[in-house]
Order: sequence, then structure tokens, then C-alpha cells
Amino acid sequence: MSNFPTIIQAGMGAGVSSWRLAQAVSKLGQLGVVSGTALDSILARRLQDGDPGGHMSRGLEHFPIPEIAERIWRTYYSPGGKAERAPYKSLPSHSKDTPFELQELCVAANFVEVFLAREGHDNPVGINYLEKIQLPHLPSIYGAMLAGVGYVLMGAGVPLKIPGVLDRFTNHEPASYLLQVTGAEEGDDRTMVFTPKELMGRDLPPLVRPKFLAIIASNTLATTMLKKADGLVDGFVIEGWTAGGHNAPPRGKLQLDEAGEAIYGERDIVDLGKIRALGVPFWLAGGFGRPEKLAEALAAGAAGVQVGTAFAFCAESGLRTDYKQALLAKALAGEARVFTDTVASPTSFPFKVAQLEGTLSEHEVCSDRPRICDLGYLREAYRTPMGTIDYRCSAEPVTIHVSKGGKAENTVGRKCLCNALMANIGHPQARNGKLVENGMVTSGNDLTRISRFLQPGASAYTAADVVADLMRSVFPR
Ligand SMILES: Cc1cc2nc3c(=O)[nH]c(=O)nc-3n(C[C@H](O)[C@H](O)[C@H](O)COP(=O)(O)O)c2cc1C
Repeated sequence: MSNFPTIIQAGMGAGVSSWRLAQAVSKLGQLGVVSGTALDSILARRLQDGDPGGHMSRGLEHFPIPEIAERIWRTYYSPGGKAERAPYKSLPSHSKDTPFELQELCVAANFVEVFLAREGHDNPVGINYLEKIQLPHLPSIYGAMLAGVGYVLMGAGVPLKIPGVLDRFTNHEPASYLLQVTGAEEGDDRTMVFTPKELMGRDLPPLVRPKFLAIIASNTLATTMLKKADGLVDGFVIEGWTAGGHNAPPRGKLQLDEAGEAIYGERDIVDLGKIRALGVPFWLAGGFGRPEKLAEALAAGAAGVQVGTAFAFCAESGLRTDYKQALLAKALAGEARVFTDTVASPTSFPFKVAQLEGTLSEHEVCSDRPRICDLGYLREAYRTPMGTIDYRCSAEPVTIHVSKGGKAENTVGRKCLCNALMANIGHPQARNGKLVENGMVTSGNDLTRISRFLQPGASAYTAADVVADLMRSVFPR
């Protein structure tokens, strides 16, 4: 087990665990993980912002097929950056048969993020995906593998077929993935296929198969993964419900407390004894960003911990500086508050939202925003009456959603996470020169504790501060 990291810096989408954060953590000898969510949009927007620092350009220069890199550069790069109130270009949408140009962008964007995170050291870097966001899976994973990603971590679903995809891409063989389609009937063609050679146009040397860690919240899922996955599952991250981002829904009937938050109980606690008995390494996540919690995890037989919130607010994370500082100030003043919203996310999974003025955590900010769905990562595929596949999101305009056979009641309280998360990392869409999208920050309940990383008088802390603090339990001074 000694080859495994003690600390996994969690994948945090979109763009919060950027290449910069993952690089900082991996350089320290722990596992830095980039978020693989929406990297195509993020690369396109970084280029339209003029590629400050030239990092995207450097990454693209190393992409093995220069013609693809040049096409992307020509399409999106805006010297000096777009005007602040000018809109970003819209990308084509992902679909079962994603357009070629978007596949290229997806492969290159995942490549660039991992390439940059790996620069300047020889330690492994991981990438995190949400199983629910299925449409970009194949080109994304292939792009990350081209850049030599060491770990693929995936949660928010049952990723039984990902290990097999990793095996196939190791030799640049075509891989397929079955799309979940609501209302699908037997005989419907739901298979997404990605053929590396078609896109790359030439033979490339074999790749290294990354390790695969499934992020789970139940014993049943751990057992299912080991029994039914179509390839090797190298370990598990076991995530509790205090973790940032999306949480697994509570087992049984959803019950809310007085404040409207989901109530979790005994049945949601993972039995670590049973996990240990499976004989694969595991990491504990959700409120484990403290030395005493790391010690507790190690004592329970874990290889270590996965930590998100403590890293989300450090200097190297991709989160906007104004949001970081405002939430750090709240934490310092003892006023930080996180709400487990059971309806905000179009995925219908509970989603943790840090309460912050000027963001979609406020009712008024939400109601001022017209419902627009133009990024579409969280759309659900469904079967149309004609037997074709179309896509809908419960945060899109209600009439459109209903016209696609969606239920009006499913749209209530839904928020456009896609646009909010892009705004969180400094790439808000601007519309008509007037409306600029606001963000909505997700954080674990550990938000209340982040101010302890600040030295007296300091207004920021680094990834190294977090790692040093956590490792105190392993190497006490
Ligand atoms: C800002 C933020 C974004 C997150 N985004 C993702 C994500 O895209 N995919 C994922 O699997 N988990 C995501 N998570 C959960 C983390 O990967 C991790 O498991 C969790 O943060 C651990 O708990 P902690 O926040 O108490 O440290 C996110 C967490 C945070 C704080």
C-alpha cells in the first residue's frame, strides 16, 4: 500500500481543482487531482480571455497532433482577451454523436489540464469525473490518458464500465460507453463510441493504464464495483455526506429538517469493517481535512484521506479570489454557513451550497436570472416519441422542459449549475452586454474550519499549509 498517497487532494469541479492546485499538491508528494468536468468550455474560455501566462498555449504545444492544437488556438484565442461584457463563444453541444470539433476540443482540453499539472515533477496526478456527466466521458478520458494521468477517480453514479475503457485506451483501441436514456426501449442504440485513431489520424505509442478509484457512499456499491466492473478497480474513496459538491442522497425516503436540509442517519454510514474485508485500498472523505481525522482514518485501515474543502479555499485553487476571501472572512468571523440543497442541482442529488451574498445561494439573485441552458453538461438524455434521443435539463426554461416531456414539478428550485460554476472560476458568461452570470460556491461543512490555516494577519494560505497541517498526525514534530 506504500505506493499510494496518504492525502488525495479532491477533484473539485468545475475548474476549482485546476492544474495549478493539482501540480502544487503532487509536487509535495501527495496526489493532486484536476477536475475533468467541463474542461472543453474552460479551455475555450481561458483562450478567449487571452491565455494569461501563456499556459494553455504551452499545453497545446505539447499536444501530439499539432493540427488539432492549431485549429483550437485559431478558433478560440483572443489576443489580450475578449471585452469584459462581450459573450464567450458558444460551443457545440455534447450528444451521443458529439461533433468532431467538440471531441477534438475535449481531448485536447483534458490533455492540457493533466499536462500542466504534471509539469515540473515526476509524481502522479489524477483526474476526477462525475459518472452522471456521461456524454464527454470517452474523449475526456482519452485526452487525460494521452497526457499520462496516473489516477482516474469517478463518483456520482456507478462507473462499472470505466475500468474497461481505461484498458482499451491504453492501446488506443476504440471504446464504447452505454448512455443512460430515460424511457429507452430494448433495441434503441444508446452506445457512444470513441475511436482514437479516427480523431488522431495516426498511430501513437501505447499509454500507461491509470489506476481507477471509484468514489462511493455505500457498502453495496463497493461490492458491486468489485464484482461487476469490467476491469480492475484499484481502490475506493468513501465519501460521507458532509463533503462538498454533490452528496449521495440519504437512503430511504427523503426527509428534511426544519431548515429544509436532507437528514442523514445510521443507514448512510458505511461499515468500514466490511470495506476492509474487501482487501483493496480506500480513502475516507467528507470532513477528513484535519490531522486528527487523518489519524482516525489510518487507524481504521484506510490508506489515507481525500480532502476537498480545505484545498478549495487555498491560494492555488481555481475559485475566484473575491469569493475565496469573502468566505474566508466569514469563516474567521464564525459566520460561514453551508446549506445542503436537495433541489438546486439538475442531477437531483443533494448539493452543498456555501451561503454568500451576490451568488445564487440568495433567493433574489436566483429569481433575477432568466432560466437559460446553454452549457448543458447536466442534461438528461431521453427517448422522444419518435424513438430518437434528445436532451433536457430541469434548470432550463420550464416551457421548454415540459415540451420535451419533462415534469414541471421537477423544475422547481433548480439552478443552472453549469453557468454558476463557470462564474465561480472567473469565466462568467455575459449576455446582451448586460447580464453577467453569478456564481454559486459549493463547499463541505468543513468551511467553518478553514480559517485555521491562516497565519495571524494573513489573508491567504497555500496547498502546502494544508498538507503540512494534515501530515502532523503522520509525522508529529
Ligand atoms: C468546491 C468543491 C467541488 C467539488 N466538486 C466535485 C466534483 O466535481 N466531483 C467529485 O467527485 N467530487 C467533488 N467534490 C467533493 C470532493 O471531491 C471531496 O470528496 C470532498 O470535498 C471531501 O470532503 P471535504 O470537502 O469535507 O474535504 C467537490 C468538493 C468541493 C469542496
